[in-house]
Amino acid sequence: MKNIVLIGFMGVGKGSVAREIVKQSDLVALDTDDIIESMENRRIKKIFQQEGEEYFRSLEKKVASWLQKEVKGTLISTGGGFFKVPNLKKIGTVVYLHAPFETIIERIKSHPDAEKKLRKRPLLQDMEKAIKLYDERYPHYKKVADIVIDVSNKEIGDIAQEILRKVKK
Ligand code: S3P
Repeated sequence: MKNIVLIGFMGVGKGSVAREIVKQSDLVALDTDDIIESMENRRIKKIFQQEGEEYFRSLEKKVASWLQKEVKGTLISTGGGFFKVPNLKKIGTVVYLHAPFETIIERIKSHPDAEKKLRKRPLLQDMEKAIKLYDERYPHYKKVADIVIDVSNKEIGDIAQEILRKVKK
């Protein structure tokens, strides 16, 4: 089976959806941000602060090449900017999780750990810039995706089922 690659904006729920899919299937999941944090032994926030965004993007590309070469039959959740790696489509079936910007922000703010969720994301510090980034990225997410899933107003269990059903087709 091909890998499943979950893409989408920060906070849309890629990690939560991945964990739900794992529960509902025999798939094992990897997360590109987790791989980068363990490669570097520091948090994404620290990598941005200490090395800058460009360095972080180079790590995403490195992880992307490794995934393409070495990983099969796995569910891969990604950071919000990972969709830009040049070999994305060669890694697996690309599933874009979509929700309106407002829904995403509401989702983060209503989380019990809201402050931490916001703090750990360098590109969510300035809301004006974040909206711009969302508007800029939205058409590209859609374009690069094999499957688009609208996650707004849906139960997490249903989202996972929908993805599993659609990737099998
Ligand atoms: C980023 C999203 C983050 C993380 C980094 C950059 C982005 O991941 O990779 O802060 O460019 O959108 P999440 O989508 O899990 O927040």
